[in-house]
Amino acid sequence: MLERHLTGITTTGSPHLGNYVGAIRPAIAASRRAGVESFYFLADFHALVKCHEPERIQRSTLEIAATWLALGLDPTQVFFYRQSDIPEIPQLTWYLSCVAAKGLLNRAHAYKASVDANRANGVDEDSGISMGLFNYPVLMAADILMFNAHQVPVGRDQIQHIEIARDLAARFNHLYGEDFFTLPNAAIDEQTAILPGLDGRKMSKSYDNTIPLWLPEPELRKAILGIVTNSLAPGERKDPDDSHIFTIYQAFANAEETAAMRQAFLDGIGWGEAKQRLFERINQDLAPARERYRALTEQAGGRAELEAILLDGAARARTRATPFLSRLSAAIGLRPVSAVAAPADHSPAKATTQVGELKTYREPDGLFYFKLVGASGDTLVLSRGFQSPKDSGQWMARTLEAGETFECRVDGDGFTWHDEQGVVLARSTVSATEVHAELLAMRAAREARKAKQAAP
Ligand code: TRP
Repeated sequence: MLERHLTGITTTGSPHLGNYVGAIRPAIAASRRAGVESFYFLADFHALVKCHEPERIQRSTLEIAATWLALGLDPTQVFFYRQSDIPEIPQLTWYLSCVAAKGLLNRAHAYKASVDANRANGVDEDSGISMGLFNYPVLMAADILMFNAHQVPVGRDQIQHIEIARDLAARFNHLYGEDFFTLPNAAIDEQTAILPGLDGRKMSKSYDNTIPLWLPEPELRKAILGIVTNSLAPGERKDPDDSHIFTIYQAFANAEETAAMRQAFLDGIGWGEAKQRLFERINQDLAPARERYRALTEQAGGRAELEAILLDGAARARTRATPFLSRLSAAIGLRPVSAVAAPADHSPAKATTQVGELKTYREPDGLFYFKLVGASGDTLVLSRGFQSPKDSGQWMARTLEAGETFECRVDGDGFTWHDEQGVVLARSTVSATEVHAELLAMRAAREARKAKQAAP
């Protein structure tokens, strides 16, 4: 089975070299590995928690999306979307909120730190804290559980959020009696470089020590010349393992280039010269992508292309999210009232409630089919042709038992079910919600019949 990787990028800032080395580059590399299905998205709902500047959110969304594409993410090979284009996510957030213990969220680091700071400052402990901040981990859990991600590549500061997502998934599964959600894992890559910033501390927006990714060449060179070094003069031996310049160089260079730079340090390369080489090495990676980035962000045509890519990504992501959410909705009791299970009826006069029916039959093409005819008499689902009546019969039985668990892809107003190999099993011209309701009603009717037969 494919391993699903999923991660979100909050759209509040501009991408910097640290984001590139620590998150974007490894994610794009992972998306090219066989056996991996990648979900990367712009977490603009999360951005609203800390940013109330509309233009900034819009600009950041543009910049981050353009960055990933310019650096080689192939949007046709992954699910690349904007969170706010998936209405199923806030809906799932609500479902999860209703199983989330408030006490669990009270302990979430970001919220707790804000409360602690308020207490320390002698102000009301809720001061300046929004419900968005409090519910942030639930929204993040919805992002992850919506697509049943196995691996969530994140920084260490996010580990607790993944634990909360696991907790909510387990509670929901337990409460509603089925393994709806996969429990996600935090994927922390120890190999991934943590880039030092201008002042030598970890490059991070919060330290204001970043080098923006898309500076024009002269400014990029200037920024790199500004990285702090010690005062050793040219000709003096320098310790590569105690130099931010070397650490950053290593994050971009291959083994051979790194070895050569190490030697140059030992041979006493001057700081000016080392920084020039660092600039050239970084620029070699970024220069080709910079053109594409500028086309996507600075030209109206590029921005329109980007918007179309995001909308297409959301449409593709929703082929997973929509049927899954309708299954969850049915499971928690948000169901069409037309399909309400008939109460045990003991009056002999009224024998049955009208429900749908599954039938298997042979067509002139010699193949065996099954179909679901709804209570209304309309054919709701039609299977593919099977060679043997046994296959058709078995799939029909599985459909009645657990049709909601089949892989389901939205197709126009209807959907298709797929077998474990991804081959189309059956097609429907109506929504998955309607078909699930019909199956529920059929099962309820079957149970009622059994109960009646068992009755003395
Ligand atoms: N909270 C994450 C961060 O600040 C961003 C994020 C939002 C995320 N939703 C996600 C990361 C889902 C992984 C999975 O970095």
